[in-house]
Amino acid sequence: MPRNIYKGQTDWNLVGVHDWTSGFWPGVLWYAYEESGDSEILADAQRFTEPLRGVLDVPVDNHDLGFMLYCSFGNGLRLTGDAEYQDFLLRAADSLATLYNPKVGTILSWPAMREKMNWPHNTIIDNLINLELLFWASKNGGSQDLYAMAVKHAETCMTALVRPDYSLYHVAVFDTIDGHFIKGVTHQGYSDDSMWARGQGWGIYGYTMCYRETNDERFLEMAMKLTDKFLERLPEGGIPYWDFDDPTIPNASKDASAAAVAASGMLELSTFMDNAGLKNKYKNAAIKMLEILSTDEYLSKDKEQSFLLHSTGHHPNGTEIDASIIYADYYFIEALTRLKKINSGSNLN
Ligand code: GLY
Repeated sequence: MPRNIYKGQTDWNLVGVHDWTSGFWPGVLWYAYEESGDSEILADAQRFTEPLRGVLDVPVDNHDLGFMLYCSFGNGLRLTGDAEYQDFLLRAADSLATLYNPKVGTILSWPAMREKMNWPHNTIIDNLINLELLFWASKNGGSQDLYAMAVKHAETCMTALVRPDYSLYHVAVFDTIDGHFIKGVTHQGYSDDSMWARGQGWGIYGYTMCYRETNDERFLEMAMKLTDKFLERLPEGGIPYWDFDDPTIPNASKDASAAAVAASGMLELSTFMDNAGLKNKYKNAAIKMLEILSTDEYLSKDKEQSFLLHSTGHHPNGTEIDASIIYADYYFIEALTRLKKINSGSNLN
């Protein structure tokens, strides 16, 4: 599956289905099929979704099943109603749920980091996105426990991952004996106290989705606060640097993927606003980011195979800095599709 394109390259570097990003390329194809109705694209979407069945052939060792399988099989199910996709997704949700720790009230995101980093139970903000698979399953033949787990996870993260100023930690570390919160860490950001751009995007997107699935006003309020923080700190130029607190700004690398994730989340958030001013505020902020991403500076056009240039994957690791990354493309096409639906008065999901 396509994952990234580095400066000087034109074609996607590929990864296997066990990589956390494996679901995004089939997801892009599903959105492209949704927009075009093209039967060849449908065949490709099905062809690239199929190998992801292998994801459940190995023991579950991280929280990314939702990203991998809901972006691929989930979109496929939404667009085709394929009953086999439904059965597979129900199995996937049960696998994801095996990572839930009732003492803490969250899913364990990175089992490998328990020993490596001495993080006995760890949960990252990105993990919110995977809750969508649990919510879906609980409403489509799966156990009601999945719903309760997803709600509890989202609640626990509101107290552990959200700082008083509504910026986010990346990782919350918990004790496994009594479940208490030990510390917040910003593993993929500039420092533990900094505001990692994509993490803020996952929070905006994730709490908006949690509100859609629960109607719980606390999640809506959280999504608004996280969005307000993101918008208040957006730099000149309208697209975030990879971390809002990198001291090398304005020479730091940008993160188009953070903008795409946040824009897609804000578009959905706008649909939940009764107040016209707030609706326009979130919708217009998203449109502005999509317009900037559509300029020659960010849109690859025929320069290379991706839609978007200038994302940052894991800066502290020195990987995917100022690269094209597949999840930027996924959330970009999703956001554009959402905008089109909002403008034509149709349902987003
Ligand atoms: N979910 C991993 C990342 O956002 O880089």
